[in-house]
Amino acid sequence: MSKTDLSTSLLKWYQHNGRDLPWRIKGGAHPDPYVILVSEFMLQQTTVKTVIPYFERFMKRFPTIESLAQAELEEIYLYWQGLGYYTRARSLHTTAQIIMNDYNGKFPQTKQEILKLKGFGPYTVASFLALAFNQPETVIDGNVTRIICRLYHLTKPTDKITDKIRQLAENLTDSAHASDYASAIMDLGALVCTPKNPLCNQCPWSDFCQSKNLPDLEKIPYKTKISKTEKNGFVYLIFNNKNQIFIRKRTEPGLLTGLYEFPWSETPLYPEAEDTELNISHIFTHIKLSLNIQTLHKNTSPTKGIFVDISELSNYPLSTLMKKVINIWLKKS
Ligand code: ADE
Repeated sequence: MSKTDLSTSLLKWYQHNGRDLPWRIKGGAHPDPYVILVSEFMLQQTTVKTVIPYFERFMKRFPTIESLAQAELEEIYLYWQGLGYYTRARSLHTTAQIIMNDYNGKFPQTKQEILKLKGFGPYTVASFLALAFNQPETVIDGNVTRIICRLYHLTKPTDKITDKIRQLAENLTDSAHASDYASAIMDLGALVCTPKNPLCNQCPWSDFCQSKNLPDLEKIPYKTKISKTEKNGFVYLIFNNKNQIFIRKRTEPGLLTGLYEFPWSETPLYPEAEDTELNISHIFTHIKLSLNIQTLHKNTSPTKGIFVDISELSNYPLSTLMKKVINIWLKKS
């Protein structure tokens, strides 16, 4: 089967079997990019089933980008309540305001400009440009990764072959029908090529699939084994009005006693903090700790500790993890 045969058969399957979703119109880009903006933000960390009623309520109250830009954040939160990850709501609001103020309400259509908005990571940029403007972008999420790894029977851990997965996924994308193709491959992953009990007899790609009928089918995609306990949390870069940053000395007995750190916790400490969308992972002996970097302003020390100039940070012993945190933030900000 050629690449064209594969995309043609997927698109045909989608026309008949693709889901009817409230943010979707089959047969090309959605005519209203605002619909795609709202739905893609809601879908960033939440399932389709959960999102549907939230999306419908939200669009009734905020039917246009203008109405959203003019709304109070407090009210947007109310419509977001239950979806969690409120940073998305804040970013969506800011993005609506930027589009109204800087672009006269007309959505920018280049990657470069979209990345200047708030709340867009690589996945959302691709899905937004494909779904709203039919641009030849390839979406790669967990579903697409699973499909590609099964289709080509890739058995290395996915994090070791991200470039290969991207290249194969891009190669399959029908760039003339990028919008339908993106929706189609998402639906194939959600409805047919499911993690468990995939419905291979309904799959438009089954004749070509190199994993079909193999005993390890359900094990694909392989992931790097992490036997360490995984912990997630938040780390806070707190600035005062002199742009100094807050550090504290670890006093609890243990591995990092005496080293300095930015406040961090497995649970959120400061609800008013801004998500930078930067994450850092660090492997300790028994733990893999992943921290989401957040920023906020405070003029007084939030706990015992000191504010120092960023240029003076090197005078304080920071743990490797905290060095990583500040370095990634300095690089990206
Ligand atoms: N997940 C992310 N975006 C989606 C979309 N537009 N439709 C279905 N699932 C999605």
